Amino acid sequence: MTSLKSVIIGTGSYLPENIVTNEKLAETVDTSHDWIVERTGIHQRHFVTEGQTTSDLAAEAAKEAMEIANLKPNDIDLIIVATASPDYTFPSCATRVQHKIGNTNGLAFDVAGACAGYLVALNVADSFLRLKKAKRALVIGSEVFSKLLDMSDRSTCVLFGDGAGAVILEAQDDSQNPNGRGLIGVDMQSDGSTFNILHADGGPSTTGKTGKIRMVGKEVFKHAVTKLTASAESTLKKYNVSPEDLDWLIPHQANIRIIEGMRRKLKLDEDKVIVTVPKHANTSAASIPLALHDAVMAGKIKKGDLILHEAIGGGLIWGSALLRF
Ligand code: UT7
Repeated sequence: MTSLKSVIIGTGSYLPENIVTNEKLAETVDTSHDWIVERTGIHQRHFVTEGQTTSDLAAEAAKEAMEIANLKPNDIDLIIVATASPDYTFPSCATRVQHKIGNTNGLAFDVAGACAGYLVALNVADSFLRLKKAKRALVIGSEVFSKLLDMSDRSTCVLFGDGAGAVILEAQDDSQNPNGRGLIGVDMQSDGSTFNILHADGGPSTTGKTGKIRMVGKEVFKHAVTKLTASAESTLKKYNVSPEDLDWLIPHQANIRIIEGMRRKLKLDEDKVIVTVPKHANTSAASIPLALHDAVMAGKIKKGDLILHEAIGGGLIWGSALLRF
């Protein structure tokens, strides 16, 4: 019996041109470059300029991924955007992207998984592809978190940035895919009782406004290290993979100390971890596909490499994904 796998056939990304360094932030926020670097590893972030929206960033990332995969817009029949900062309450950001890239023959919708949204989108796309409900899926993480920042709250406003990352997944059977490339598995969980430690304090049915990010950083940090380690270990065990077998860890890029904690727990060499948090900051759902594309373009990640992703976000929602690129 042949089995279908969801194989990544293209990646893309987009970052707004406007780079905001820690020094620049420190001109208006009571903070310093040294504090931000020491506590988070962040050196700079990209912020949109007036008029640039989440779907604009997503569409640019999508176009690059389509170009690399050598596809036309209508070769895609599923578009999923993971975002916590959509252009509008409705319609979905994904339908805006669909129109902007000129796709007229697919289903487009958003998923809400905050900083873990890309893994949720990957999981959903994989189900569609393997159940033959779609043939090619464009999966995008795109965020304009700068609009959700309370610039008077120095404990959160220095942490986030804007950007988008995209992948195109194609359903391939064993004959097209003799080397077993593709998504191997995604392990995810959520716990709604932790709402208070990470959320945006508004929405259509509460305040009628978007709200701003509120986070109890220390609490989120503790959950991140324990939950991400447990998820990574359980995914590796489930698929009978040992950490030494991994070519790369591409984690959610929230804080270098969380990434470093994970790396040590998994006993991975430093040069097996893709780190973009210094230049992108935390771009929420965009951070993993942005880091993936960055590493592919740098010639680090090659076809056939075994990759582990992990992410945690407001919900809390967290998990990991194992794939052969
Ligand atoms: O993507 C979703 C997942 N999110 C995360 O993973 C974030 C997880 N949390 C974190 O990354 C860290 O908790 C932070 C980076 C947010 C904060 O680091 P921390 O080591 O937990 O610092 P803290 O909140 O305990 O603050 C330490 C001190 C405080 O001053 P006092 O009370 O010791 O005098 C803060 O007021 O640092 C102060 N502080 C700052 N100082 C300069 C907080 N923010 C700043 C700032 N600049 N931006």
